[in-house]
Amino acid sequence: MSRCEPDTNWWEREDLTYLDGRLHLSGQCLEHLARSAGEPVFVYSARRAASNLGRLRECLGGLPQSTKVLYAMKANRFLPLLSELRRLGVDGVDVCSPDEVLRARQVGFREDQISFTGTSVSDADLEVLARHPGVWINCDSLSSLRRLGQRCPGRKIGLRINPRAGVGYRQNDQLRYSGELPTKFGIYRDRFEEALEVAARHDLQIAGLHLHAGCGYLDDQLENYRKVLIATLPFLERMPNLEHLNLGGGLGIPLVQGDAPLDLAAWTGVVADVLGGLQASIWIEPGDYLVKDTGILVLEVNTVEEKDGCRFIGVNGGFNLHIEPAFYRLPLHPVPCRFPTGSPSEAPVPAQVVGNINEALDILHGHAILPGLREGDYLAFLNAGGYGSSMSSNHCMRGRFNEYLVV
Ligand SMILES: Cc1ncc(COP(=O)(O)O)c(C=O)c1O
Repeated sequence: MSRCEPDTNWWEREDLTYLDGRLHLSGQCLEHLARSAGEPVFVYSARRAASNLGRLRECLGGLPQSTKVLYAMKANRFLPLLSELRRLGVDGVDVCSPDEVLRARQVGFREDQISFTGTSVSDADLEVLARHPGVWINCDSLSSLRRLGQRCPGRKIGLRINPRAGVGYRQNDQLRYSGELPTKFGIYRDRFEEALEVAARHDLQIAGLHLHAGCGYLDDQLENYRKVLIATLPFLERMPNLEHLNLGGGLGIPLVQGDAPLDLAAWTGVVADVLGGLQASIWIEPGDYLVKDTGILVLEVNTVEEKDGCRFIGVNGGFNLHIEPAFYRLPLHPVPCRFPTGSPSEAPVPAQVVGNINEALDILHGHAILPGLREGDYLAFLNAGGYGSSMSSNHCMRGRFNEYLVV
């Protein structure tokens, strides 16, 4: 097979490229897979997950502390992908609900490889956690701390803190979990002493601190990331015997042309600058960095029509299959599954790519530049491996899709 037009597209890579005019992921023809499934498909590359994990491990090796990489299951809980990540050697998983605990156990993670960081945690949630004594728990409120203490006195746990500084993809404040405005996530410094008192009252041992300040950050946000880490120092000073600090997830990947891959050496440089003297080990729990660019969502074009001077490309899936463009204004870049021939009828034109959900916000890409697609063609939406299938809904009863892991 021959590779077409090498390096013409910013997103192409060795395992994601046109072969004989058809887009392939790890050797699998995406159009073929979607055609045979007869419905929307998410396709994930195991090879890409391995290289993402490998890159992270390599750069973390430069830190003076011991480190752990947990995978944030909320990004994608497709069982074969979870099993693959376990096989590839992630140290564990970050989970945020009782069912995610059970799913982690189903694919073979031991209790001591599971770290739970929930929010608005109920008594029923705590009962499940109490039945899993080996699971690590990070409490993000005084309320959950008190109620956990009543059930599990003496347990060794962590506290999720709120550093009052945030970070995210570009300037997108919807992706920041902490910052100037109050958020529900974590315990602020002004109530940290109170939290330690509640813990002491129930004999809970606070051996870990956790923070997650936002999602999708790239190099342009590293100075904000530095501020986040600096803001954790007052908490750390109070905890001389800490066993680990969990820095959460949030590491981003390029989503549009012009985004450069996160410079991992620069990122660990910031961590080492601020936290180099920390005795505790450092954990991270990325979701997107490990899986987002492993995945492609493939949808069939069923409508091509001009309306009011605008070309609309309608496909057989909508924002319910990938909510990020609609909810977070994050790009979901569509590319044709067949390489355009270059004929005048296939010259790229501006188009809105829209889904099959009767909602005004059902726009998958508002400003795409696409070759002259025909009804029956297929589009591949890049970087769909994180927060796509896991956040999907059955809205309008159009929630059907298939998932494949390509190994
Ligand atoms: C507590 C926590 N950890 C980790 C993650 C994973 O974030 P990301 O997928 O951006 O790496 C999230 C995402 O929401 C989170 O809330």
